[in-house]
Amino acid sequence: MRTILLIDDHAAIRETLTEVLADAGHSIVAAENQTHALAKLAERDFDLVLTDLMLPDGSGMEILAQSQKNSPTTPVVMITGHGSISNAVEATRLGAFDYLTKPVDLNKLRVTVRNALRLGELEQKVERGSALDALVGQSPAVVAVKELVKQVAHSDVTVLIEGESGTGKELVANALQAQSPRAGKPFIKVNVAALSRELVESELFGHEKGAFSGAIRQRKGRFEMADGGTLFLDEIGEMPLDMQVKLLRVLQERELERVGSSETLPVDIRLLCATNRDLRQLVADGKFREDLFYRINVLPIKIPPLRERPGDIELLALHFLQKFNARYGLNKEWSKELLARLTACPWRGNVRELENTLEGTFVRATETPVGIKFLPPEIGGSGALKIDGGLPAGLTLDEVEKRYLLSELSRAGGNKSKAAKSLNIGIKTLYRKLEAYGELDGEEEINN
Ligand SMILES: Nc1ncnc2c1ncn2[C@@H]1O[C@H](COP(=O)(O)OP(=O)(O)OP(=O)(O)O)[C@@H](O)[C@H]1O
Ligand SMILES: [Mg+2]
Repeated sequence: MRTILLIDDHAAIRETLTEVLADAGHSIVAAENQTHALAKLAERDFDLVLTDLMLPDGSGMEILAQSQKNSPTTPVVMITGHGSISNAVEATRLGAFDYLTKPVDLNKLRVTVRNALRLGELEQKVERGSALDALVGQSPAVVAVKELVKQVAHSDVTVLIEGESGTGKELVANALQAQSPRAGKPFIKVNVAALSRELVESELFGHEKGAFSGAIRQRKGRFEMADGGTLFLDEIGEMPLDMQVKLLRVLQERELERVGSSETLPVDIRLLCATNRDLRQLVADGKFREDLFYRINVLPIKIPPLRERPGDIELLALHFLQKFNARYGLNKEWSKELLARLTACPWRGNVRELENTLEGTFVRATETPVGIKFLPPEIGGSGALKIDGGLPAGLTLDEVEKRYLLSELSRAGGNKSKAAKSLNIGIKTLYRKLEAYGELDGEEEINN
């Protein structure tokens, strides 16, 4: 069954269209204005968005833009009165699949919806394939990881993704979700390390209005948001022990209570977890509950560090080159010597560090093919960006802090715990700062 988000401010139109689409076997979520619709879009992906162009509090154009941002493969169909056809045409130019004029011809509606859904499905298939392709590597270890992803994606089995920082754990989680029958359903990522201790419970399980001071409204937690879809608990090793008990209960009972409520809500989620810590060691040290460990360690996927698969370095370098060329609108190449050097030097770091190093090299290079001399000195070049002693005049203190923090993070190979330690700040402070800099790529925002 496909789920369609239908937005129109006229109750009568919503009712008629809902009836027709429900008859065609679809499930409909209706919204009567832009605010309501944007809230629905934030909660989950839809198979189709059908929106009125003119809304009391905004426009279908905003909805189109937001839908394209959240879920680029979801087709959007506009509904428009005669007065605003030129806007509808503009919407199709901006990526809307088609438009219907009011009064809506119900036959045309059926056909347009069918075609739009078909296109969305095709695009999703392509995207699913590419989610796995995003995981670059031909080493036996990476090939095995990809095989495993393909095998288990179709089941609801809980997967524990283990690997050092920057080895691609999030890519594996993305691929697992994209290949699963829950693709297109909510995919909620929670970075456990980034949650503040006081708010973990309400973040995960939600709260009732007045449950604690500051709880001015009822709020859904991440588990509820992920209902019907997938929940990704990243850095699960950082979860406080008292929360581990509560998490275990939810996983066993498949139900939860919001903070401040005694009502039990059922949840249907597929759980993915990731960690860069050695959970067995944490169990031995009494920092991670053994029963929870067994619950989440149903199917472990271990991603080996890059130093154990030097054969993948060249492929990765070429993959990142494509990415940088697209990002900067250039057409550079790596020289053979540079590729050989990358593979030959003992690579301590991980894929993220390789990517960062290569991006710096790419940007500094004044000629193509890019030669060894543009690599940083640690690996035989002369192109380091040194923060100490090399600061330009006129920087604000905030800017200096930001540059230094990012350089320490890069020195730690992208390992946030390590960087936090060397900077003598807490991991959460580090997350907060990175978030403020807009450097938490693809990671959860912090809500405190
Ligand atoms: N096999 C790979 N192929 C292509 N890119 C990769 C691969 N592994 C990692 N990357 C890239 O390296 C970066 C880090 O990957 P990702 O965020 O998935 O790692 P992680 O293990 O979740 O890291 P962390 O522990 O810091 O959260 C991303 O930019 C990602 O695209
Ligand atoms: Mg990660």
